[in-house]
Amino acid sequence: MSLMDDILRKRASDRHAKLMDRVYRSQSGIYDLTRKYYLLGRDQLIEELNPPPRGRVLEIGCGTARNLVRAAKVWPDAEFYGFDISSEMLKVARKNLAQSGQKDRITLFHGDAENPALAMPREARTFDRIFLSFCLSMIPDWQGAIRQAVALLAPGGELHIVDFGQSEQLPAPFRSLLQRWLAVFHVEPRKHLHRFLTELDCEIGTSSEFVPQYRGYSWRFVIRPPGASRPIKEET
Ligand SMILES: C[S@@+](CC[C@H](N)C(=O)[O-])C[C@H]1O[C@@H](n2cnc3c(N)ncnc32)[C@H](O)[C@@H]1O
Repeated sequence: MSLMDDILRKRASDRHAKLMDRVYRSQSGIYDLTRKYYLLGRDQLIEELNPPPRGRVLEIGCGTARNLVRAAKVWPDAEFYGFDISSEMLKVARKNLAQSGQKDRITLFHGDAENPALAMPREARTFDRIFLSFCLSMIPDWQGAIRQAVALLAPGGELHIVDFGQSEQLPAPFRSLLQRWLAVFHVEPRKHLHRFLTELDCEIGTSSEFVPQYRGYSWRFVIRPPGASRPIKEET
């Protein structure tokens, strides 16, 4: 990659960080209260993480750290890490952490999912579990972000994703209303996510499981590097 590519990537990353800060500046304080009604599937993802003892778990796009705090309580033997591109969200995350009783087990930092390694020391760039919760739908190069996340997995690791699906089994008027509402917040459900992961399986030998939830309102994926296999729960 040339120096010019690096400069352009850095500029795009700074622009996206500013956009996310604008989106969340006025909402970060009420985020957890409002999102609990429509970010569906987060707690199931946390229950199914099942990290190994003393495993390292990373949330990409951790927002207010709501998931990290919950996961730290569910999995008391693991170490947790989270990063976000929005400084506004990280401010709230740090406050939440201070009140959570889990501060010593969770490390937060600023970073971009499109280039996560930049934000981490070289010796700390592998994780047993990585998860993205309602974040891919906001990352411009979401395919690149998935590839980067897979590259950070330790042997036997797993990448868990939950995000908006296409609400494929819900009435059409609901679908179009939801899409328009989400667009206000720069959220774009990734229509081709399942297809992309199937192609990635063929290309690099990962194995991906797909579970649509809530009639397609949210989509759940577990991606494993070649070798490991563990089934996730059936549709709810
Ligand atoms: C809808 S919120 C979800 C927050 C949290 N994961 C949850 O489930 O409550 C999406 C988060 O992704 C973050 N985000 C968006 N693009 C990102 C990127 N390129 N790198 C890191 N974080 C990003 C946003 O700043 C925001 O905090």
